[in-house]
Amino acid sequence: MLKQIQAVTGTVFAVFLTLHLLNTWLAALGPATYDGVQSVLRTLYQFTPFEAMLLAALVVHVISGLLRICIEPKRELTPRSRWHRISGIFLLLFIGGHITAVRGASWFYDVYPGFEGLAFSISAVPTYFYPYYFLLGVAGLYHGLNGLGIALGRLGFRTGLSTSALVRVTAAGAVLTLLALGGLGGWYYDVGAVQESEFAVLTTRIAAEVFGVSLTP
Ligand code: HEM
Repeated sequence: MLKQIQAVTGTVFAVFLTLHLLNTWLAALGPATYDGVQSVLRTLYQFTPFEAMLLAALVVHVISGLLRICIEPKRELTPRSRWHRISGIFLLLFIGGHITAVRGASWFYDVYPGFEGLAFSISAVPTYFYPYYFLLGVAGLYHGLNGLGIALGRLGFRTGLSTSALVRVTAAGAVLTLLALGGLGGWYYDVGAVQESEFAVLTTRIAAEVFGVSLTP
């Protein structure tokens, strides 16, 4: 039963994750492409009933995964499933902060991060945000891809990538994530005065007032 719940909730979340990662990779092509696609996608994933279902699926998926680890502590793990668990734990540790940072701003202040918000975070604290976004993208892709194969199998479909295909697709995704970070980091073109964006002004104020941290160079 727990396995079925995990499979259904993971599949629901994978629909969003696929769109989200494809959108993220478009950052390599510049702000207009990234923001243009994101504003269309937002009408879907921020449509309240869908967003509520998405976040509920995420919470139930995490809880069922943790329960399975507790119920089956001695489960034998293959290298592939060990990486599935490692990437899942990484995502678990960072997903709450990610959603609070990027969605909290639009929920509570009506400020959407978009390309300039991401570019600002990278320009403000590059030593944190380059590795953080890179690992988030790669862990999300590996966990989503491997998990979707397992989930669809459990739901009665004949699917699944071979391990070598999984590794190749994840490596290709890692390259695309790196290229996207290059776009956000201003490696190919000028990203403009991102520190003057609404998201930058808001997060700089919150960082200073709540955490006593200065984000200005
Ligand atoms: C390089 C990697 C990533 C970047 C740069 C990134 C960036 C963003 C941005 C900018 C938003 C706000 C979207 C908007 O305003 O429409 C967002 C939202 C979100 N992200 Fe990510 N993300 C990344 C990876 C991930 C991964 C791997 C996951 C999950 C495993 C994830 C889960 C979410 C969720 C759940 C939301 C909130 C969706 C909503 O309710 O509107 N993200 N992300």
